[in-house]
Amino acid sequence: MTFSEIPAPERIDVQAPEGNYAVYIGNKALKTLDVIMRLHGLNGKAVVITNQVLAPLYGNMLAELLSVPLITIPDGEQHKTLDVVRFVYDRLLELGIDRQGVLIALGGGVVGDLAGFAAATFLRGIAFVQAPTSLLAMVDASIGGKVGVDLPQGKNLVGAFKQPAFVVVDPSLLPTLPDAEWVCGAAEIIKSGLLRDASLLDAALYQRDNKAFTDVIRRAIQIKVDYVQRDPYEQDIRAELNLGHTFAHAVEKVSGYTWRHGEAVGFGLVAAARLSQAVGLCSAALPDQVEQLVGAVGLPTRCGFEPSDVRAAMRTDKKRQGEAMRFVLLREVGQPEIRDDVPSQAVLDVLESLRD
Ligand SMILES: NC(=O)c1ccc[n+]([C@@H]2O[C@H](COP(=O)([O-])OP(=O)(O)OC[C@H]3O[C@@H](n4cnc5c(N)ncnc54)[C@H](O)[C@@H]3O)[C@@H](O)[C@H]2O)c1
Ligand SMILES: [Zn+2]
Repeated sequence: MTFSEIPAPERIDVQAPEGNYAVYIGNKALKTLDVIMRLHGLNGKAVVITNQVLAPLYGNMLAELLSVPLITIPDGEQHKTLDVVRFVYDRLLELGIDRQGVLIALGGGVVGDLAGFAAATFLRGIAFVQAPTSLLAMVDASIGGKVGVDLPQGKNLVGAFKQPAFVVVDPSLLPTLPDAEWVCGAAEIIKSGLLRDASLLDAALYQRDNKAFTDVIRRAIQIKVDYVQRDPYEQDIRAELNLGHTFAHAVEKVSGYTWRHGEAVGFGLVAAARLSQAVGLCSAALPDQVEQLVGAVGLPTRCGFEPSDVRAAMRTDKKRQGEAMRFVLLREVGQPEIRDDVPSQAVLDVLESLRD
């Protein structure tokens, strides 16, 4: 394929307090990364960081295209740690990366979060490019500037806000993504649809052979961009993006992290919709619609854990404010409402109604 055969990517501009950046979206867009870097004046010494799964699939190719070195970290959330950040610092020093250096994250949310944290802190901050490869990272993790790592005590407990120089979203990388990861990305898109765009609430869109899927990704990114622009440091309205997540974080925790985040979000969306009905915000039609869609996409709508255990796990969610449980509920599609006054019994009843 020659350069002129690569379709020009679409561009969404994001306004951020630290400076604006662009999200480029298009099939084969990764193959134009060298051009986009020059366009953005990123002429310093660059390095690609990826993981062991993605290095043979795309990492080696990208490092060759750019004529830059590749740093490979182990695959998996269990490696989103300060130890691995330390390994990355060592490699950056060995490679002679200086203040003008550019760190290019090629991977899912784990690589993006960890590389972003390294870029935010190495030499007090070097330029950072996001090249997300998982659906979840394309529509969620790569947008909004939150970066960080886990501690043994909990997920994402250490982090920073670090805006990328730009994000390049290339849906032609998705065919190699395992089905289980695909549906996890779908869960976050369905969440965005419930918050802002009813046309994303159609199970047919999430078929893996959907030719129009790039448009679904673009619409989901636009929703996340709209939120992070309005509330870059998550002080108020960005919290709506936690729809389904109070339940999801608790279920992930109680499962000992054997449930994937996206799977827990699928269940969490069903639970949040049921809770919205239980407190009188909406009729049964909304939870029925959510449950039908989440199930049709292949995400769990039931969870066998003891309701009191799930409820107890919500108490240690770092996003809670004071002692009150915070839930994002729905009046209808497109009308979220943040509530701190949900009775504990209503939460337990919803969990009981959604047991296996
Ligand atoms: N920063 C944020 O705002 C934000 C938002 C949401 C999630 N996150 C973080 O993102 C992480 C989850 O991201 P994720 O779901 O992408 O997980 P992940 O990075 O672990 O990727 C999932 C799996 O898919 C593989 N993979 C990714 N792209 C692939 C491809 N194109 N082909 C084949 N395999 C591929 C990965 O190697 C991995 O095994 C969590 O650590 C979460 O905390 C961050
Ligand atoms: Zn999420």
